[in-house]
Amino acid sequence: MLSRLFFLLLLFSGATLAKQVPFQLHETDDNPKHRFPESPPVYPSPQQIPINQAWKTAIKKAKKDVEKLTLEEKVGLGTGNGWPGGLCFGVIKPIDRIGFKGLCIHDGPLGVRAVDLVSAFPAGINAASTFDRSLIRARGEAIGVEYREKGINVYLGPMTNLQRTPWAGRNWEGWGGDPYLAGEATYETIVGVQSKGVQCNVKHFINNEQERDRGRISSNVDDRTQHEIYLPPFLQAVLANTASVMASYNRLNGSWATQNSKTLNGILKGELGFPGYVLSDFFGTQSGVAACNAGLDMPVPIGDYFGKNIVEAVKNGTVNQSRVDDLATRVLSAWYLTGQDKGFPEVNFNAFDEQDQVHNKHVDVQHDHWKIIREIGAASHVLLKNLNETLPLRRPRSLILIGSDAGPPPLGPNYYHDRFITPSDRTGVLAMGWGSGTCYFPYLIDPLSAVQRRAKKEHIDLSWFLDDYDRNEAARLASEKEVAVVFLSADSGEATNGDLYGIGDRPDLEAWHNGTDLVLAVADSNPNTIVVIHSVGPINMEKWIDHPNVKAVLWAGIQGQEVGNALADVLFGDVNPSGRLPYTIAKRDGDYPAKIEHDTDDWPIPQTEYSEGLLVDYRAFDSRNITPRFEFGFGLSYTSFTYSPIWQRSLPTKTRILEDEIERDLIDRGQGSSIREWLHEPRWEINLEVKNEGAVAGHEVVQLYVAFPKDCGEPPKALKGFERIYVQPGLLELVNFKLSYYDLSIWDVLTQRWIKPKGKFRLLVGASSRDIRSEAVLEEWRKFEDEEHDSLVSQED
Ligand code: BGC
Repeated sequence: MLSRLFFLLLLFSGATLAKQVPFQLHETDDNPKHRFPESPPVYPSPQQIPINQAWKTAIKKAKKDVEKLTLEEKVGLGTGNGWPGGLCFGVIKPIDRIGFKGLCIHDGPLGVRAVDLVSAFPAGINAASTFDRSLIRARGEAIGVEYREKGINVYLGPMTNLQRTPWAGRNWEGWGGDPYLAGEATYETIVGVQSKGVQCNVKHFINNEQERDRGRISSNVDDRTQHEIYLPPFLQAVLANTASVMASYNRLNGSWATQNSKTLNGILKGELGFPGYVLSDFFGTQSGVAACNAGLDMPVPIGDYFGKNIVEAVKNGTVNQSRVDDLATRVLSAWYLTGQDKGFPEVNFNAFDEQDQVHNKHVDVQHDHWKIIREIGAASHVLLKNLNETLPLRRPRSLILIGSDAGPPPLGPNYYHDRFITPSDRTGVLAMGWGSGTCYFPYLIDPLSAVQRRAKKEHIDLSWFLDDYDRNEAARLASEKEVAVVFLSADSGEATNGDLYGIGDRPDLEAWHNGTDLVLAVADSNPNTIVVIHSVGPINMEKWIDHPNVKAVLWAGIQGQEVGNALADVLFGDVNPSGRLPYTIAKRDGDYPAKIEHDTDDWPIPQTEYSEGLLVDYRAFDSRNITPRFEFGFGLSYTSFTYSPIWQRSLPTKTRILEDEIERDLIDRGQGSSIREWLHEPRWEINLEVKNEGAVAGHEVVQLYVAFPKDCGEPPKALKGFERIYVQPGLLELVNFKLSYYDLSIWDVLTQRWIKPKGKFRLLVGASSRDIRSEAVLEEWRKFEDEEHDSLVSQED
């Protein structure tokens, strides 16, 4: 128990340390590194607006309550209760006289953290690689059920920071390197979780794309990049009615994310019209009055900066009463929005003390969630290579599994706190990264156990060799078997030795445990070598990927508790693989557009320049003409598909896109201007048919990319749609995409609005970002659409 507390303290100590770093204002000198961008002030903090009916109803109820509260009670709704402040990682106290039972705030995102009898779901990165909205939603629903039944009001997830660089430690918690994919996954997760009456807390707002120095670094990002690359997932979160948002540890353009008035007041509560509340990343609050006026609603877990300090500030006029009323209404309306005022279960565990016999009721919340875990797991496998149809396995006479990643962790699945490990001490299958984004495994089906069951059923001579370092013995054993499967892994996680110099990021992109060497040894001795990779992100595979004996490669990612079963489903052909890479795998480290910023110079505040701008992931490879090893969106199948030409039509809409209408809307562009209906309503429909030309049924992930007009400064293409369809052999399926004005807009920095550039848009439909099968120029139907609009309006009248 003590060691556990120590670890938790260690995990959070960095942010506390960060406060002790003196902020020295250096005079501007000749060193270009000492010139910093500024984050413009945006005050006052916007009052909450009811962006739709659900919020409207919730806000109305909340306002009635707030009228009855004292100043102290209102502030209390936004004041964390301490560490430990109760049974959960974050706690807000109840106010009995209005029936508010308080909030239990807890991690997230892939399962209930630090509590038993829960499910360990596939990580976000695997959910994303299914490219399947309904699977992602189902994952959210199952997570929502587990949180609710444990009595947790607020799920600290989803984590939607982009994979700006493959070295970043927490990429596996999120959705990869594309803002559209991340936005869709965020949306579906929030709808899923909140449908079970649990509040989502989408994180980390914003530009927390590395672990190193996360507690003090300034992410310096230009306005257009911010809006087009990093903001879209948060915009989708608002459209999905997220109850809350977590402000990140880092600074943004020089100003702390937890008290940055531009991003909180200006962008989040202003442009996006977010009606919920903003809490700080844990221990990440840097001030009271400044943070509150800049839009922070709730410092957690410790609320010392708020509480009596904000009460005092209201009394002496440094914080307006209206700000505190707004804060309280935001917290209470999120609670009403998710129906937590009725029949919400009480917390039934103590996350700080396993030995607490009173509160640890050990409620089993798993149901049959293993089924969806296994289904997502199998659907998230990405088949990267498959020569001579080596996969699926067809009853090989003999099979050997090689590498420690094939077997169980020798010390059990939950031995390391928050799964925190270093390369030397972890072995066994990798099914979770480390840090706050973890949970206890209820069990862990490793690949060897799952394949054993198949071997028994299909009478395969199965053997294994779980040593990673004896390459000669591995080669000798492999040479005696018909098929050899080598297992590789690469792990990463959250900064744990203090936020200042966190080690969660990856030091390199190599496979752990001698993996490269092991593959080469086996491939040199067995002509049917298959490689399976459990990894948090890209690994360097250049030394072996073209080896003629490496016949097949399966990218398995971070699978959770059913890792072995999900793999066996794909290996043996029960499931036809359809996962797609949610990021690019490069040939050389230098090809990736951004690195972790290590250069702290002599300056007390390290700066990370997002100088690659819009060129993140495939956008960079495309625009620089760099051939990747495997591109974004890539993934093979056991069958093959053909694509018909595209046809298009305009959709009847409720709102017009006449220029004067847009102007009017934008002149009045205050709160919520980025989520207006005219901007997001589907206007264009793109159709095609996809045919399964092979002998087995399977899913195809059809992707729509848009190439913007030439001179508007956009990268060559951007993902704007995807559909995962199931097609029987020899049959056709219709695929349908819809585009909105927003989908075809860029952020105009001068006028601070979304505009659809003039010129030719090309629609590129394909099986990956580089395998484009059907192309067309987007047709403009302005006139036609106006007529349709008029007839729609008259029908409504
Ligand atoms: C992480 C958050 C997490 C919080 C609470 C922080 O260190 O950055 O993602 O939700 O801790 O555990």
